[in-house]
Amino acid sequence: MKTIIEPFRIKSVEPIRMTTHKERRHHIEAVDYNLFALHSDHVLIDLLTDSGTSSMSSAQWAAVMLGDESYAGSPSFYRFEAAVRELMPFRYIIPTHQGRAAEKILFTVVGREGQVIPNNTHFDTTRANVEARGMTAADLGIEEGKHPEVEHPFKGNMDVEKLDAFIRETGPENIPLCMITVTNNSGGGQPVSMENIRRTKEVCRRHGLPLFIDACRFAENAYFIKMREPGYEEKTVPDIVREMFSHADGCTMSAKKDPLVNIGGWLALNNEEWVDQCRNFLILTEGFPTYGGLAGRDLDAIAAGLREAVDEEYLRYRYASMRYVADRLTAAGVPMVRPVGGHAIFLDARGFLPQIPPLHYPGQSLAVELYLYGGIRSCEIGTSMFGKQADGSEQPASMDLVRLAIPRRVYTQSHMDYVIEVILEVFERRASLKGMRYTWQPPALRHFTGKFAYVD
Ligand code: F0G
Repeated sequence: MKTIIEPFRIKSVEPIRMTTHKERRHHIEAVDYNLFALHSDHVLIDLLTDSGTSSMSSAQWAAVMLGDESYAGSPSFYRFEAAVRELMPFRYIIPTHQGRAAEKILFTVVGREGQVIPNNTHFDTTRANVEARGMTAADLGIEEGKHPEVEHPFKGNMDVEKLDAFIRETGPENIPLCMITVTNNSGGGQPVSMENIRRTKEVCRRHGLPLFIDACRFAENAYFIKMREPGYEEKTVPDIVREMFSHADGCTMSAKKDPLVNIGGWLALNNEEWVDQCRNFLILTEGFPTYGGLAGRDLDAIAAGLREAVDEEYLRYRYASMRYVADRLTAAGVPMVRPVGGHAIFLDARGFLPQIPPLHYPGQSLAVELYLYGGIRSCEIGTSMFGKQADGSEQPASMDLVRLAIPRRVYTQSHMDYVIEVILEVFERRASLKGMRYTWQPPALRHFTGKFAYVD
């Protein structure tokens, strides 16, 4: 088989600047080893997130120029709405400035204090918005998803039996809706099967609960279904996408992921009672319902990006670039979440650095080293992020991972070769890495602004 090449050529380039090890040591010490606090021009390859970091196509930039900035009733809105509905046929589509705004509106309207939202795995903003409403977020993903080395084609799946038992125990009257996140970001970018979405919906229907999809990476999820789920090999990705959403009553969406834009999102739903309240709250916080915190040109960029997001040539390349890195690292014995997910490589820092106990944040130590050694910025997803308990104590997170999120259409194969080389060289001298501790932390979401030092 021939090499799967990047299905684009490059028309506009953005320089990146190499730094020396000495400069990077200075930069990382100046921010107390918190990678979020670095200036991004001190980063060579930025794999902090795949969110809002995509390269737009010439067609999207052309669409930007067609943006109509009317306050109300802009044709840009109607193009956006049609493009969304083409894939996600919900009755009401409400634009928002990004995903968490859609979450905030949804939970404000449907939630009551003391209620519970089940999900396969809540992303951290989703969890925070559920909790900000005085509700509890319950993660009910399958057991396989919690073990990096266990192979399973749909590790992002909901544990449907557990969900059923959970709803019985909690009482459906205490659950306004159930969510399912595709792909399951916090669980390693792992996909959810069509069968699992369908069975989740069946459980919800039996208990009279609506099902909402956290849809950020819907196109990558659909491509996994096409590749891995029997019966879907011959279906087109847009058809698979429509089938996924046919099982849902609504979705929250961050357009900063699969739709290939730098800002945007939406809330979609069928419920007539909820939509008026959602729109009223939208006007209060985001803007009029035909722009929702976005410019008309952003809406047009989303409409064009959505068409490109479900292009199979593009998705084939996207997955191939992920596999390319994962296969080389696995061949060298680097522990990581297997099989590779849709938008990121998740290194298993606990397996990579067994000498560092979870409470000394092996993921943070590894992420810092990748920056120091190679100028690569990644993100700890482990005990530093999730270890602090409500009572102030600390517990190991279920996994200690380092996420290397791959921005869409941004880096080429030689950038990825460089990333592989850096990881392999750090892997070779992994025994010399030391654990870390917080020297200062804020009361909540400490990983964003906390300060670290090495333990002696
Ligand atoms: N849901 C999931 C599954 C996400 O991954 C994100 C964002 C959101 C919701 C919130 O969307 O950022 O537009 O408000 N994930 C980014 C990340 C930040 O790096 O994974 P947003």
